[in-house]
Amino acid sequence: MEGGARMIVTIFIACSIFLPLALAKLEPKGLHVGFYENSCPQAEQIVAEVVSEAYRKDPGVAAGFLRIFFHDCFVNGCDASILLDSIPSGEKVEKDSPANGKFLRGLEVIDTAKARLESECPGIVSCADTLSFATRDGSVLAGVPQYNMPGGRRDGLVSRAADVVSNVPFVNAPIQQIIELFVRKGLTQEEMVVLTGAHSIGVAHCSNFAYRVNKYNDTFQIDPKLNDVDSAKIKSACQRQVSNEEIEKTTLPFDTQTPFKMDGGFYTNLLKGTGLIESDQAMALDPRTRPIVERLAEDEGKWLNQFGRAMSRLAAVDVKTGSEGEIRKKCRSLNLENKGNTGIAQNLGKTNNDEDPGKLDKVEDSGKSDNDVDASTHVNSSDVVQSDKKFDSSRTFDLGIKLA
Ligand code: HEM
Repeated sequence: MEGGARMIVTIFIACSIFLPLALAKLEPKGLHVGFYENSCPQAEQIVAEVVSEAYRKDPGVAAGFLRIFFHDCFVNGCDASILLDSIPSGEKVEKDSPANGKFLRGLEVIDTAKARLESECPGIVSCADTLSFATRDGSVLAGVPQYNMPGGRRDGLVSRAADVVSNVPFVNAPIQQIIELFVRKGLTQEEMVVLTGAHSIGVAHCSNFAYRVNKYNDTFQIDPKLNDVDSAKIKSACQRQVSNEEIEKTTLPFDTQTPFKMDGGFYTNLLKGTGLIESDQAMALDPRTRPIVERLAEDEGKWLNQFGRAMSRLAAVDVKTGSEGEIRKKCRSLNLENKGNTGIAQNLGKTNNDEDPGKLDKVEDSGKSDNDVDASTHVNSSDVVQSDKKFDSSRTFDLGIKLA
């Protein structure tokens, strides 16, 4: 055989061995595209219809789904545990965590989609898949090219507010910690930056950025990463003259020019230094993530395609399949047969907060922590690698502007 022909045969053999392996990694544990093809062929269409109806009334739901989904997947896997209103033990559920709480939007749309699915295919489509499809459909309506979302997730039986804090990123966490968190979930540094482009749409509440202009730290009154225009904008939006309730409800869009459109504006804004929340801005300054931000800012089309792929990877984090969990009838509550089952936590949801149960206390007592990150310094590699320096997760909820 000629050298060239031999090379082609070798490449062909290598592809036929390694490509399926790579794909299997993307679709683990029995998740696959078209999962409901036989059992409920209209499932994805039903969700798409409900989402598009809701999006027509309020395009903000697309951002709502993305955030719910991200926080669901990072806390004990993509298992719709974030949708539960209560669990049999009476413990606070994920929704009750200050990191979720009042800030979740779009929950009622998931209820509507699930009710329609139950009336057409009772007991077939999980809430976890309903949320995954709805999140995909919302992001596509907002501008991401159509992408495949595998199905086959089952719904978790556990939901604990105590698991949230150590599993979701906070606005004032050093980039090192955020990278570590994503890697712990099986995602790469690049995927972290690509997925955070979801902040191309949606809003943040004053409680998540007002501290940047209000006694930022011992050295700086205002976060030196903020420019004058943005700090004035934040001050005027989150000023103290208005009541606490008003401040609590006040939001600013991540992207002021195109707040409902998934586009590359998010990354170009970061390069201009106009990131609304601190961790986003830090991604454009950290030497590990800045080149990724630059690449994505240069090529919006590339980012949009990468976003779809990264979403399918996020959608596979710690999923429950086969006979694990259940297919809930209603997304807000466990099925009756599982309501009395209190021994389920051990095998169905590893409660990661056991690593550091103190973290939640810090959030709940909303007192000032003595572990503040010194976020005053511009983010550079020597600052961000100090992963033993704890960030103060309570600070995002107690920022000098007292919430109710
Ligand atoms: C990398 C670290 C991240 C941090 C620190 C972070 C933090 C935040 C914060 C503080 C908010 C504002 C919440 C509020 O005040 O209502 C927010 C909103 C949002 N986040 Fe993230 N996030 C991160 C990554 C992600 C990822 C990976 C996604 C999706 C894949 C995502 C999707 C969203 C969306 C769409 C919103 C807007 C929600 C709405 O408008 O209702 N975020 N995020």
